Amino acid sequence: MYTKVRDLLALGKENNACILAFDCADVNMIRSVCMGAEKAKKPVIIMLHPSPTYKNILPFGVFAQTTKYFADSVSVPVGLHLDHCGDFDEILTAIHEGFDSVMADGSLLPLDENIAFTRKVVEVARNFGVDVEGELGHVGVAMESDDFSKKEFFTKPDEVTRFTEETGVTSLAVSFGSAHGLYKFPPKLDIDHLIELRNATETPLVLHGGTGIDDDQLKAAFANGINKINIGTEFYMLNTRLNKEFYADETQAPYTFPAYIQPVLTDYIAKRLELCTVEL
Ligand code: 13P
Repeated sequence: MYTKVRDLLALGKENNACILAFDCADVNMIRSVCMGAEKAKKPVIIMLHPSPTYKNILPFGVFAQTTKYFADSVSVPVGLHLDHCGDFDEILTAIHEGFDSVMADGSLLPLDENIAFTRKVVEVARNFGVDVEGELGHVGVAMESDDFSKKEFFTKPDEVTRFTEETGVTSLAVSFGSAHGLYKFPPKLDIDHLIELRNATETPLVLHGGTGIDDDQLKAAFANGINKINIGTEFYMLNTRLNKEFYADETQAPYTFPAYIQPVLTDYIAKRLELCTVEL
């Protein structure tokens, strides 16, 4: 059942729980997330990471309509969200083409500019009933640096209060020990720091870089203010492995591929969603 991200975040907040959000790149992934959520009886969010190559597979409007179509084919709530986007015009295009939740990623900008950029997106988005996720502090790329583990790069609690009040974002991605992609060494989330961030705002907080963090740390984060987690790399890697396995035999007919890949992706999603403690 297609559901707005703000309603899913509210469900997370009411239950002191986290909604899992998965980056998807094609129809098999989108459909499998919906079926996995149905199997697990849990809510879920489907995200598009708007790099140019992904848009060549599924342009914004096609991605949005595909997600809504498969979301409405299951009974559990499924949301749609545009992941990291720092380009105002691109965000407007996504909204125009059917995304009603977007990330305005100004995290590489100085604080005042990040606030100005994010507020500008929120002001437009509000007119269309669209939700906006901001980012404060920077969740970097795990392979490129170990900055994610250094406290000086964590989101600052006093800035959280100012940022959320001045921008009016629906949710906020924060940094307290995670990074995107595969880690060079096991990450250690700073839950005490997260509690300080949570105490600085009522706005739901988002954890990026879900791949490679062990379940016990995730559970601690979900119990202490994280209401949405983004997972990308591990889902992509499973998808890539299954593509390679299937197409290793070049006589395979492409139309038999969905029946091969979707059950495995569906099981992965259902298993991952055991981390979600929301009871529907
Ligand atoms: P991972 O690729 O590390 O799971 O992170 C995904 C993410 O945070 C997308 O916004």
